[in-house]
Amino acid sequence: MGNQKKLLEQVVELKKKAFILAHNYQRPEVQAVADFVGDSLGLAKQAVSLQNEIVVFCGVYFMAETAAILNPEKKILIPDRTAGCPLSDFASAQMVREWRRNYPEHTFVAYVNTTAEVKAEVDICCTSSNAVSLVRALPNDKIVFLPDKNLGAWVARNVPEKDIVLWPGYCVVHEFVKLEAVLAEKERYPDALIVAHPECGLEVLDRADGVCSTGQMFDFVRNHPETKRFIVVTESGVNYALKNMFPDKNFIEPKTNLLCRNMKKITLEKVLHCLEKEDFLVKVDSETSERARKAIDNMLQMKT
Ligand code: 13P
Ligand code: SF4
Repeated sequence: MGNQKKLLEQVVELKKKAFILAHNYQRPEVQAVADFVGDSLGLAKQAVSLQNEIVVFCGVYFMAETAAILNPEKKILIPDRTAGCPLSDFASAQMVREWRRNYPEHTFVAYVNTTAEVKAEVDICCTSSNAVSLVRALPNDKIVFLPDKNLGAWVARNVPEKDIVLWPGYCVVHEFVKLEAVLAEKERYPDALIVAHPECGLEVLDRADGVCSTGQMFDFVRNHPETKRFIVVTESGVNYALKNMFPDKNFIEPKTNLLCRNMKKITLEKVLHCLEKEDFLVKVDSETSERARKAIDNMLQMKT
């Protein structure tokens, strides 16, 4: 029996006691063993209603932390605790407190790609799928948006009636997407539609036919039944899930580096280790957790 097959069988046997959540950027073999695969909003919503006592979160640390905040009584495990998100490192709790002193009248909106400590300092969270509608629906017209300047710029473009101050953070994967690489694929396949993640810069988003969270990309494809090809401008892992759901369509990856090294740190071997040893446990101290939960709950309760 091949090693990979044996590994898979061991994971399948052990996972009976746990629920496995995986982000759309995870490796194909990790997505294959997951009970739920989705974008940040889908994963957060799923985390609210979990019944299992043990949850293995295959994604980056802030995502597992969000699940831990929403389920303080459960064991939330991450197969590699060094799987961080460099975007989330652009903001610290101390920095947010200082910005709050400079912008006392602003509502602070934090992308979920932030640490629990930062979430504890802000008014409300958002994800890439609800950022525009959530900011539009907020009663305050003065907003500080953190930490992603690109998603913030996209929100500002779509909600021009509000004064939106941008935090200078970015995702290392999406910030450096080469527009020429995207346009080269469009030249090669003129019939293809471009679908891009809002963490890309505006120069890329302006050329896209759809700007979507990873989860919304599935709806975009579904809503274009006549289109056979899509140029997908986000981390390459999503192409596996898209191909699985739409086997008769073609998903084209532009020739620019679209790999999130942190997302790829989670392997099937580490998932097995995580199930066997029940580590690494993701813990958020109760005071931070309670304050961060308010910002997440505020998001989940918004009718967006
Ligand atoms: P989604 O919520 O769109 O899945 O995005 C999460 C993320 O980290 C994108 O880089
Ligand atoms: Fe963070 Fe970017 Fe990786 Fe998403 S793709 S987890 S924002 S580093």
